[in-house]
Parts: sequence; C-alpha cells; structure tokens
Amino acid sequence: MLDKQSGIPIYIQIEDYLKEQIARGIYPVKSLIPSERELTDLFGVSRMTVRQSLTNLVKDGLLYREKGRGTFVAEEKMEQPLNGLTSFTEDMKERGLTPGTKLISFTKVHPDPQIAARLGITQEALVHKVVRIRYADDRPMAIERSYLPVSLFPTLTEEALRGSLYAFIEKQEMLVIGQATQRMEAALAKTEDAGYLQISLPSAVVLIERVSSLQDGRTFEVVRSTYRADRYKFLSEIGR
Ligand code: GLP
Repeated sequence: MLDKQSGIPIYIQIEDYLKEQIARGIYPVKSLIPSERELTDLFGVSRMTVRQSLTNLVKDGLLYREKGRGTFVAEEKMEQPLNGLTSFTEDMKERGLTPGTKLISFTKVHPDPQIAARLGITQEALVHKVVRIRYADDRPMAIERSYLPVSLFPTLTEEALRGSLYAFIEKQEMLVIGQATQRMEAALAKTEDAGYLQISLPSAVVLIERVSSLQDGRTFEVVRSTYRADRYKFLSEIGR
C-alpha cells in the first residue's frame, strides 16, 4: 500500500489512503476508523507517523476524535451558496433538512454606534435584539444575532422568531426584501458560542455579517451569524 521509494512522505501516503477509503464509503460517515495501533500494524510504520496523518485529517475536517472512543469519519460539509438572498429556513428546506430555531433572547435595546450606522438610524432609536440558534434536523448549525429597527417591526413576536423571520416580513408585513451586503471572516469560537453550537474549544467558526434592505431602500436588519466551520463550506459562482 505504501511506496517508500516514491519520495512522497509516508504520513501523506497514509492520509491519501484513508481519504480514498472514506471516498469509497469503506469507512462511512460517523463510523469508527481503525485505531492508531491497528493502522501502525497495517502499514508497518511508527505510531508517530500514523498519529501525524490522523491529526492532519482531523484538522482538515475529514475525521473527528471523541475522547476515549476513537476517531470517526466526519460528515460532509454543507455547501452554502453566497449568491442568493435566502433565509436559513429556505436554505435548509432546499436540502431536504428540517429547520429548527431556539430563541435565546428577544429584547429591545439602543444600538451601539456601529449597528446604528449600519441600520442608518440614531442610537436613540430602539432595535429588537434577537439571539437565535438555528438547527438542521435538530443539530446546531449557526447562531444569529439580529438587530431590527423597532419602528419597522413594531409587532414582531416571539412566535414569528421561532419560525422564519423572512416569512414574517414578506407574508405578514407584506414588505419586499431587496438586497444585502455580506462580510465574512474566520474566527475561533467564543466560549458561550461553543456551548450553543455544541463544539469543543478551540474550534474554528465562520462569522458572517449581513446588512439587508427592503426594495424601497430601507435597511431592515443587521445580522451577525456564527457558523460551525466543520459543517459549512461556501460557494459562489463567479464570471469574468
Ligand atoms: C439567514 C441570514 C440572516 C437572516 C436569516 C433569516 O440565516 N444569515 O441574515 O436573518 O437567514 O432566516 P429565517 O427567515 O429562517 O428566520
């Protein structure tokens, strides 16, 4: 299986072998892969080498470790298009998954200077601050912290927020959603967010801030979302 003359480092050959086994479904998603000791025997290499391969695959998100249980095959990440102004609910349904929401808090606050500037309102104005955990088939995917002008949505309810905010805006408020600007960056999960997302520390996350406007130009939301980096990859179609 290994070619010691090839010039390709042994740990990389082991990684490639495991990747191929995973791709072929020999080790299906969530299955336990052979232990370090078994792989050491199989390849006739040192345990250090096997460990290096496994650590790399864990870092790449192909495998995950569970303390005292072993190393398992990770699920494929969800591909999230960056082109359309879709809602979380729509994105999950599109994939045949059941969207879920846990409302953590729903309060009225005065926005900080940056949120006020993004929304084009003063700091004296009130905004709804909404914190929600979003689930796909009962598994946490993202946390959303949304800021919405109270003047635009005086009748926003907890019930609406447990479902789709965009459905509330379009079907109940009969407003037309227009466009948004998104900013995306990498970060390490904060302790609080790691708890919500059920990930260990340290874990990578992707932060996306979306500032969205109605078709008439009024900005209706600033949303700061924290996505699990082990569950998402982002896709954009680009042309020249
Ligand atoms: C996405 C966006 C948010 C938006 C939300 C609405 O997750 N990142 O900016 O507020 O969708 O989703 P829903 O209509 O399901 O509440």
